[in-house]
Amino acid sequence: MATVVVTRALVSGADRLEGHEVRTWSEDRPIPRDVLESWIGEADGLLCMLTDRIDAPLLDRAGRLRVISQCAVGVDNIDLKACTERGLPVGHTPDVLTETTADTAFALLAAAVRRVPEGMREVAEGRWREWSPTHLLGGDLHGSTLGIVGLGRIGSAVARRAQGFDMRVLYTGPSRKPLLESRLRVGFRPFEELLVQCDAIVVTAPSRESTRGMFDRPAFEAMSRHAVFVNVARGDLVDTDALVWALETGQISGAALDVTDPEPIPADHPLVSMPNCLIVPHIGSASRRTRAAMFELAVSNLLEGLEGRRVRACANPAVYG
Ligand code: DGY
Repeated sequence: MATVVVTRALVSGADRLEGHEVRTWSEDRPIPRDVLESWIGEADGLLCMLTDRIDAPLLDRAGRLRVISQCAVGVDNIDLKACTERGLPVGHTPDVLTETTADTAFALLAAAVRRVPEGMREVAEGRWREWSPTHLLGGDLHGSTLGIVGLGRIGSAVARRAQGFDMRVLYTGPSRKPLLESRLRVGFRPFEELLVQCDAIVVTAPSRESTRGMFDRPAFEAMSRHAVFVNVARGDLVDTDALVWALETGQISGAALDVTDPEPIPADHPLVSMPNCLIVPHIGSASRRTRAAMFELAVSNLLEGLEGRRVRACANPAVYG
């Protein structure tokens, strides 16, 4: 029997942990750091969320820990290097959330391009007057050019949806992906060229040293004034002040964000009151079916690690040499 720390009530898969000593933080808010620090010393396994900071000082208290399993695909809250150095495999949840997150990205893209949030605000505030031929003119999805930053699983799923909407699709990333280029009918552009050539940008790249802050003022300056910016990746890829500037000055036409920096974004933050900025609270993968699948996979990863088997969905495969 192993001792397992679970940092949020399990949406699915709890039955598979029967026979283990499970210590669950079941309040509907992230586990406080001091509680996690006091529990981790007893843990053989940790099932955690993206809201938990898993760093070297925490790992130093985790003398018995054999596996970490995160219920998310992104693992930027975890010091992977420190885990690998300690021989700890880190499980995560790729694939099962790809299509749902791409659906969300596309919903945000369509809403921003067709100015849905501005229209909703106008109606809710009683400002809807007679029909006018020039009222709330926006862009089109069909016939426009979409730029995807990060053609991984989710980026590819966004590209497939875009083809169905008759969009031309370009992508950028650290390297070209020739197979995907022909399969998805997408073209590669260096980052700076992509910014100039696209009517809309969707960000799906992971947060890492090379991507943090990549959407800074020069990046927004390079984009066209009618362009729309969508982020379903991580808030820290964007310099938030630069985005505020770009929206305030009309440097770009709109933004739709599933993720922000800081997160959660305070209600009095300038972005929140901007009519051309749509923000939803990090719900990219939040469908009932997908959340259940994410928890099931997180439990599988945890059990594989506890049983000394190779964690199949492993974010730090280097741990296996
Ligand atoms: C992830 O998995 O990284 C998402 O941000 C939450 O589903």
